[in-house]
Amino acid sequence: MPDKKVLWIPRRLSDATLARARRDYDVIVNEADTPGTAEEIIAMSAKVDGMIPCHSEHFSAEVVANLNPRLKIVANHSVGVDHCDLAALKAAGIVVTNTPDVLSDATAEIAMLLMLGAARHAVAGDRIVRQGQWDSWSPSFMVGKQMTGARLGIVGMGRVGRAFAAKARGFDMEIHYHNRTRLAPDEEHGAVFHPDVESLLEVADFLSLHCPATPDTANLLNATRLARLPEGAVVVNTARGALIDEDALLAALKSGHVAAAGLDCFKVEPGGNAAFAAHENVFMLPHIGSATRATRDAMGFRALDNLDAYFAGQEPGDRLV
Ligand code: DGY
Repeated sequence: MPDKKVLWIPRRLSDATLARARRDYDVIVNEADTPGTAEEIIAMSAKVDGMIPCHSEHFSAEVVANLNPRLKIVANHSVGVDHCDLAALKAAGIVVTNTPDVLSDATAEIAMLLMLGAARHAVAGDRIVRQGQWDSWSPSFMVGKQMTGARLGIVGMGRVGRAFAAKARGFDMEIHYHNRTRLAPDEEHGAVFHPDVESLLEVADFLSLHCPATPDTANLLNATRLARLPEGAVVVNTARGALIDEDALLAALKSGHVAAAGLDCFKVEPGGNAAFAAHENVFMLPHIGSATRATRDAMGFRALDNLDAYFAGQEPGDRLV
């Protein structure tokens, strides 16, 4: 029997994932479940053949420059890989994979929750009932924005964007989208393509972001673009905090131009942006888009599938570099 390959798992992945990993590999797990630091990543690279990091472990160019050549593969437990300098990893000859597909529905569900919650005053409503402050009812109390029949703008029609569009169709929303390339006609299901973000924004009563964080999409939603949204639009972000100029969104919320926002992602994570807390029309969650049991198992298994393929001398299905 050849020696088992050694893996480092810096976060506490699902029980099923850890059981399978321990069956097939020698595994070092950070049971403390604290984000792996640059020093830990570098130190571990001398002890392991592969790693299963999450988006909390940052493989910057500097970290990658100091990795030990023993490390052969970084099998991310995430679809987003903005925590990895892919060019540096490629140059170092380290294979990188991610976990697409398996988290699309869970993330689309959270986007739906945020859209509904933001549009219908979930934060204020919950607080009022919870704190025993619900002492009157009026036809003008907690009046929100209706989704049924409204126009939904989706930026990024990848797997998550399409899963979200499918759920929004159940609300009879009129779907518009911007994507780098237009979907094939049989994938559009009646959604209206906008070749540029600007024209999409102009029709988006609700706007949901589903594109990756790259240098091209940094602050994609800035003050100029927010101004293009119809008055009283609702903004949802389950992708990455880097996509939104948070000060510009705060200003738009303050002026009322943006009626409400649902945010699962922030520029600074963990922690978020305390300035949003002053606005009860902002429904916030702590980056839990993919946090369902089924999805966390599926993400872990997908990362292990990629490792298994690589160590068997095959091409990992989700290889990025
Ligand atoms: C992802 O997979 O990119 C999610 O944001 C969780 O990391």
